[in-house]
Amino acid sequence: MTADRTATPGPWSPESWRRFPHSQMIDYPDRAELDAGVDLLRSLPPLVTSWEIERLKSLIADAQSGQRFLLQGGDCAETLDDCRPDIITNKLKILLQMSLVMVHGGKKPVIRVGRFAGQYAKPRSSMTETRTVDGQQATHPSYFGDLVNRAPFDAKSRRPDPYLLVRAYKHSSMTLNFIRSLVDGGFADLHHPEYWDLAFFKAAGLPPARRAEYEQMTATLADGLRFMEALGERAVGEMNRVEFFTSHEGLNLYYEEAQTRRVPRREGYYDLTTHLPWIGERTRELGGAHMEYFRGIQNPIGIKLGPTATPSDVLALCGALNPRNEPGKIIFITRLGQGRARQVLPPLIDAARKAEVRVLWVCDPMHGNGIKTASGIKTRSFDAIASELEETFDAHQSCGTHLGGVHFELTGDDVTECVGGAAGITEHHLTRNYATLCDPRLNYQQALELAFIVARRLTPKK
Ligand code: PEP
Ligand code: CO
Repeated sequence: MTADRTATPGPWSPESWRRFPHSQMIDYPDRAELDAGVDLLRSLPPLVTSWEIERLKSLIADAQSGQRFLLQGGDCAETLDDCRPDIITNKLKILLQMSLVMVHGGKKPVIRVGRFAGQYAKPRSSMTETRTVDGQQATHPSYFGDLVNRAPFDAKSRRPDPYLLVRAYKHSSMTLNFIRSLVDGGFADLHHPEYWDLAFFKAAGLPPARRAEYEQMTATLADGLRFMEALGERAVGEMNRVEFFTSHEGLNLYYEEAQTRRVPRREGYYDLTTHLPWIGERTRELGGAHMEYFRGIQNPIGIKLGPTATPSDVLALCGALNPRNEPGKIIFITRLGQGRARQVLPPLIDAARKAEVRVLWVCDPMHGNGIKTASGIKTRSFDAIASELEETFDAHQSCGTHLGGVHFELTGDDVTECVGGAAGITEHHLTRNYATLCDPRLNYQQALELAFIVARRLTPKK
């Protein structure tokens, strides 16, 4: 399908994006097969409800005024194969533990949003990939995530397959079903820091003063939780009923479109594949297909901002996506890179502040800090991640605004994908358990250590 390069905004509909230029357009080879996949997906029940979406929007509105903090995290890309109980439980567990550390530090509630139950589509810098196979050069479509095609480098796997829209939906539904049960049933033991893996505290690399601070934080957190328990069953029950929300990059608009509906007694359309869809750094161009789709939905919207973002981009994005300046609607997720946040961020913040547009500022310290080792392995350094985070807190402090949340790529498992952290992962360890098909993720200990850094920065000054 070719987009009309001169398309101008007309009436919006869930499929009006199809008339607009699209920078990551997936080239489905068989139109009839694509229509059948989209129609099947359209006939299936929604994954989330409009009242959950509105509830999240109201929590984000609170975060915009400084009363809550947002924690968003999960895989770079979920895979169909990783839809397994242990992987899902571990991811939920690390997010919950990180949020408790942050609640304790910031003395305010944390909104927990997983990059899960739909994070199956990936933007790529090149639409095709060429490799030498058995001495011959071969070119196939790039791997766009399990929502689009499969990772093995052969013609059959890499062919975009519309039935994967339905398979990914089913896996999202299974993931979400399990998450809802875990959350409803409560996972009380996860509330107890004595069961957490805090081995990084012991690491030689952690300065003694910092270690003492973290140990103190953990002890008071454990005391607080024991106190809640002592209050009786009801309090524990309440504590166990934590809320989790889902999010994913709304990259494949056929997927989003198929589940975009009106609901009774509410205005407008909702994207019912997820609570919080976001627009990636590569697809946020004004006048593009993604802007067209996103301008018509009621969900809160995340927008990634990379180092080329300008103050006028910030204002134009708010104007296009939130013309009524609705609270809780827009989240800017900055991913600028270590050393760049200091210069790039303050003018963006100032533009939003002066125009009085309502936004939540969130820091993604992962995507501006990718590096390759000498042997060609994609990794990220914990130090670079931590320092972009610190720089971002500083930038907000100097502008008189507040950082409202963090966005991490992480797993609850013991992978070796990012280097550094007190647990001491070196380049040499990377091949031990490098499991991601896309970007390198923080492992359990690295994620928990970052939560302590965030908690330290959130702690109100006495
Ligand atoms: C991502 O979040 O995995 C991603 C691709 O991010 P960005 O759009 O910021 O590059
Ligand atoms: Co990523």
